[in-house]
Amino acid sequence: MIWNKSAAPHAGSNNRPRRAYEYILWYSKTKKPFEDRKACGNLTDRSGMEDNPHGNFAGTSLRKDGRAEITDVFTFAASAVDQNIPHPAIFPPELIRQLIRTFAPPGSVILDMFAGAGTVGLVAQSEDYDFILCDIEQEYVDLMNRRLVTEAKYFRGEAKRKREIEEQEQREAEQKRKFPV
Ligand SMILES: C[S@@+](CC[C@H](N)C(=O)[O-])C[C@H]1O[C@@H](n2cnc3c(N)ncnc32)[C@H](O)[C@@H]1O
Repeated sequence: MIWNKSAAPHAGSNNRPRRAYEYILWYSKTKKPFEDRKACGNLTDRSGMEDNPHGNFAGTSLRKDGRAEITDVFTFAASAVDQNIPHPAIFPPELIRQLIRTFAPPGSVILDMFAGAGTVGLVAQSEDYDFILCDIEQEYVDLMNRRLVTEAKYFRGEAKRKREIEEQEQREAEQKRKFPV
């Protein structure tokens, strides 16, 4: 899969196109790995591709509710990261959140062996996952320990919003079951 960073970093060769993406590697021990492709999809009126000019998608249907499925390209600007954090290569939290919600079974443990500023831990914590973080640099271990205490409250807001949206969807589905049109 691809993380499309939207813009390439400033550093790099002036003689070549600068790379604006990174690979995301997804491995599984089972043939049917956990995957919730709709976990982060936007609410949509459509799930079909009726007017797609590239193929015959007969049988797909127009839906009035539901969520769009995500693709294997994840677009999050690298610049969306707080510039005041003293680490040179921090992931956008929303990229981590999307990956965790989509690919981590509830109750699993999130491991980041190159954890830097600890962003993966902050997001995992806010999504109610246990996590393990490592870094070779003591200053980054200190940094992530500090952030896990001081910034936790900002990260929790997102998880709360997700729960509220899901509860609202459940209420609406229940209404539809009770009062079908
Ligand atoms: C790209 S940064 C990770 C940033 C992190 N994902 C975040 O969003 O905060 C990579 C980190 O890997 C650490 N690192 C490099 N080699 C390592 C090694 N052999 N063992 C553990 N950590 C290492 C670096 O110190 C650096 O902080």
